[in-house]
Amino acid sequence: MIESNINPKTDRMQQDFLPINGTDHIEMYVGNAKQSALYYQYAFGFELIAYAGPETGIKDRASYVLKQDKIRLVLTTPLMQDHPIADHIKKHGDGVKVLALWVDDAAKSYQETTSRGAEPYEAPKVHSDEHGEVQVASIRTYGETIHTFVERKNYNGPFLPGYIAKKSLYNSVPIGLKYVDHCVGNVGWGEMNKWVEFYEKVMGFNLLVTFDDKDISTDYTALMSKVVSNGNGYIKFPINEPAEGKKKSQIEEYLDFYNGAGVQHMAIATDDIIHTVTELRERGVEFLEVPSTYYDDLLDRVGTIEEDIEPLKKLNILVDRDEEGYLLQIFTKPVQDRPTLFFEIIQRKGAKSFGKGNFKALFEAIEREQELRGNL
Ligand code: FE2
Repeated sequence: MIESNINPKTDRMQQDFLPINGTDHIEMYVGNAKQSALYYQYAFGFELIAYAGPETGIKDRASYVLKQDKIRLVLTTPLMQDHPIADHIKKHGDGVKVLALWVDDAAKSYQETTSRGAEPYEAPKVHSDEHGEVQVASIRTYGETIHTFVERKNYNGPFLPGYIAKKSLYNSVPIGLKYVDHCVGNVGWGEMNKWVEFYEKVMGFNLLVTFDDKDISTDYTALMSKVVSNGNGYIKFPINEPAEGKKKSQIEEYLDFYNGAGVQHMAIATDDIIHTVTELRERGVEFLEVPSTYYDDLLDRVGTIEEDIEPLKKLNILVDRDEEGYLLQIFTKPVQDRPTLFFEIIQRKGAKSFGKGNFKALFEAIEREQELRGNL
């Protein structure tokens, strides 16, 4: 039987020293931001809202800001070879650099976390333009990933100072992506607890749930995972590390191709997963497939659900239930050629968990993909 450890919220009685309003934005460093921006507009239904680059006085890089409901995705590329962003892309391929957190006081967030041991990345700085001012500050987390605290209460521009409003010639249609539900990090062998401790001690997060290698293993591969969450629960960061299995685990494959720790997947919430996934598939987004037998005994496993089974089966959407309700979820294949970053689409109907009942079927699907890549 699978065991998990749900912590009571007792230790939340103490003052939250790092109040966070939500995810501010996610910035990816990519090899060709112009083309990636069109991919996320076309395939994921994001809208281009802002831009920074040579035309706006930023000489060394170009950034495109995409938005859908509460999600802001920033795609940045360097314009010259001797550039830290170019080094990042050479090492990691396209990937997430910044998990930016929306706060009311960026300087205090920086001070509270660095005084507890966070490694500074960029000290608090006020940026301003005709739309007002934004204060930002950044600390390091796993790998070369950073957290940027963004304080934007005195700003009403399109994104951040330095960015201009920009519209695309492509008329994108939103597909129901609403907000970032959780962001998962893969870290190296034996490093999960170190990073869980970082989120607990340095950022004041709480341990929400633990999965060990007995929960998450197939014949071949294994991993361990712990989920940490901030005080109001708006930010959830599962942290995975590889565990010993008969063959190479998917986490090891990630670490090999990303050359270290980094963001494995972003889970995006929708209120209508059937609509969202239908749209994504029509636009060419590829998903992991589980065998159709997954659906044979689905209702025995999860009980009554509001959705018809047929469309779920046709779209390969997975279902899991916990004490509080159920959830529907599906995982894309990696969204770049390296087998690294992918997306999850999730619709929660009461459930606050992460789809533990689907892990086995999912990991077997991932292993089939690893085998095709020759990395199992
Ligand atoms: Fe997830």
